[in-house]
Amino acid sequence: MPGLLSSPVCLTVIWFLSWSLRPSCAQIQSDEVSGIQYEHLESNVKLACGKSQIRIPVVWHHNHSSVLPWRMVTSDGTLVLLHVNHSAQGNYSCYDNRGLLLHSVNLRLGRPPGPLSISCQVPNHTHVRCSWEESVRTFLPAKYNASFRGNGQEWKPCVVDNTHKHCDIDHPALWQTIHTLRVTETNALGSETTYDRFKLHELLKPEPPESLLVKELEGYPKRLVVSWSFPSSWPLHVAFPLLFHVRYRPHGSIYWSEIFSLESPATIFDALAGHLHQVQVRAHDEVNLESQWSEWSPLFLCKPWEVYTTPNPDEEDIIPFIIKPETSTAKSHNPEFEDEGNLGLVILLVLFSVVILTTVLSLIFVVWVRQRRRDHVTKQELTSMVKMKSMPI
Ligand SMILES: *[C@@H]1O[C@H](CO)[C@@H](O)[C@H](O)[C@H]1NC(C)=O
Ligand SMILES: *[C@@H]1O[C@H](CO)[C@@H](O)[C@H](O)[C@H]1NC(C)=O
Ligand SMILES: *[C@@H]1O[C@H](CO)[C@@H](O)[C@H](O)[C@H]1NC(C)=O
Ligand SMILES: *[C@@H]1O[C@H](CO)[C@@H](O)[C@H](O)[C@H]1NC(C)=O
Ligand SMILES: *[C@@H]1O[C@H](CO)[C@@H](O)[C@H](O)[C@H]1NC(C)=O
Repeated sequence: MPGLLSSPVCLTVIWFLSWSLRPSCAQIQSDEVSGIQYEHLESNVKLACGKSQIRIPVVWHHNHSSVLPWRMVTSDGTLVLLHVNHSAQGNYSCYDNRGLLLHSVNLRLGRPPGPLSISCQVPNHTHVRCSWEESVRTFLPAKYNASFRGNGQEWKPCVVDNTHKHCDIDHPALWQTIHTLRVTETNALGSETTYDRFKLHELLKPEPPESLLVKELEGYPKRLVVSWSFPSSWPLHVAFPLLFHVRYRPHGSIYWSEIFSLESPATIFDALAGHLHQVQVRAHDEVNLESQWSEWSPLFLCKPWEVYTTPNPDEEDIIPFIIKPETSTAKSHNPEFEDEGNLGLVILLVLFSVVILTTVLSLIFVVWVRQRRRDHVTKQELTSMVKMKSMPI
């Protein structure tokens, strides 16, 4: 059959042609494929102009410019860069004497990975997130592989997020006392494995409580009602109770007062009447005493209920030059606050003495009235006795 006959012949011709063309054609093809060459910073780098030896003289370009840094040496078409720094990175191309591109390579410089510093967050009983930072700046893209195990257990994968440099474990065995995490960082120049051992029950640290709200209580100038909700990453279940720590202080004071509560809301009974208060709350696993307190929630500002809601203009007339220094010396312990406290004390003392005075006066009045009555009675008795005596027997 002619078809069968012709095709092997054709194939042979094609094979022969491709074989004969191979040295030049294949050379150029493979050389034109631009790759990336990774090298160590501060090392001496050799860039070959293609895979096979090239006898013809070649010209090298860096970043499409023929101006090469002074420390570059050419020998046998190979470019040698001494003690490279970052400015040696970029695109290197070699051309033959007719200006034909022979080879092109991208040089990337960096360092192999070093040990990592690892830290783990345990926001609830079913989740662990471990994150890490490089102790060595590698300047190169890296991949991470992480696994995790309890004492004497099998290694289990920790699911890695390469860009954010962390990994997640769901449902770890919290009752295992010691856990080991190993993270392997790999880049083009090498790899390094870091081991970290920790106790999960000690790392357990809830997120801060959420939706903090502080409200005045009408009719109570010294009370504040504080409410919040569980951190959203904490399971709402009776098996996982949280202890809450509320702290508060009059705005400007450096001393916090505190209350502990197992549930929201909680009431502050000793707020300073008429003062803006700062309030915040944090949480702790109620069962596991070795675990950690959450961070504090953001501050909430609130003033207890007052009879006169509009500011008293007289008061502002009294203390304007005491208020002014306070606003300029932002946070320092402010005298204004104590002076206002003294003013309150004076008012209190005056009120107290008025009360005492009225009590004493009314007592005197009562005693006087009773005395008068008694006098009246004795007079009556006397007169009746006189009458009796004067009666004829
Ligand atoms: C890199 O090395 C060259 C030559 O030694 C030098 O001129 C240049 O300032 C260096 N650049 C940096 C960023 O160190
Ligand atoms: C060449 O380009 C690379 C990035 O493409 C840059 O980092 C390097 O500094 C450049 N070098 C010179 C000498 O222009
Ligand atoms: C480097 O330069 C050559 C020649 O201009 C070009 O063909 C190649 O795509 C460049 N490579 C990179 C990685 O920029
Ligand atoms: C990551 O580690 C696991 C277990 O140690 C191993 O089976 C896997 O091949 C590793 N993967 C990579 C990409 O290194
Ligand atoms: C535990 O915390 C993780 C991370 O915040 C969260 O995705 C998960 O839903 C939480 N688990 C429970 C039971 O709330």
